[in-house]
Amino acid sequence: MNDTTIACIFDLDGVLVDTAVYHYQAWKKLANSLGFDFTEAQNEQLKGVNRMRSLDMILNWGGVEKTAAEKEELATLKNSWYVDMISKMTVSEVLPGSLQLLTALHTHGIKIALGSASKNSGLILERTQLTHFFDAIVDGNAVTSSKPDPEVFIKGAELLGAAPADCIVFEDAAAGVQAAIAAKMAVVGIGEAVNLPGADQISKDLSAISVDGLIQLVKDKKGKA
Ligand code: BG6
Ligand code: MG
Repeated sequence: MNDTTIACIFDLDGVLVDTAVYHYQAWKKLANSLGFDFTEAQNEQLKGVNRMRSLDMILNWGGVEKTAAEKEELATLKNSWYVDMISKMTVSEVLPGSLQLLTALHTHGIKIALGSASKNSGLILERTQLTHFFDAIVDGNAVTSSKPDPEVFIKGAELLGAAPADCIVFEDAAAGVQAAIAAKMAVVGIGEAVNLPGADQISKDLSAISVDGLIQLVKDKKGKA
């Protein structure tokens, strides 16, 4: 076996593109329509959290109770506002280093998967012209359990035909880092170390990441195992 074979699985929101601002604006509009406010600090806590769980957290912060049917309606309303915003996204919203790293991985023949909680990943990838980089896409439409459950990354590795120990996950959310650890994969945390406990490596964005560095990371991690 070639021990330098690696595969990469990317979270979408906050790693490849900056959509948090749109989630924030749409959730804030919803909270305000229900008579309470929603802060940027609260929005931070929703990173990597799926749509219905995010709504539950927001209603809880606002002290508002809704039936299951009402929650479905509210989530649909928020999503319609969010989709209006992301429909206007352009390549300029791809985060620093993303295009360079995806291109370098592609050039080296390294398989690439998406591992996202979002049910809107198809539209975002299309608007930002990233779709063609991916050999497999696993998003909120394809999983039954959300991060920190490892399902999204395990499915991604299976679709790539890669062993978990050969996979590197890129994540900006603590729940995503935990999911990658549970999947027994290497994980590069994107953001601040204090917010991403357990990550093998931390980077502020993808611009400092090299293919050689990733191969070394997998080798080192296997050496320690
Ligand atoms: C994650 C975001 O990627 O996707 C969360 O970090 C978001 O904030 C989740 O709630 C679900 O997104 P969507 O597009 O399916 O509502
Ligand atoms: Mg994210």
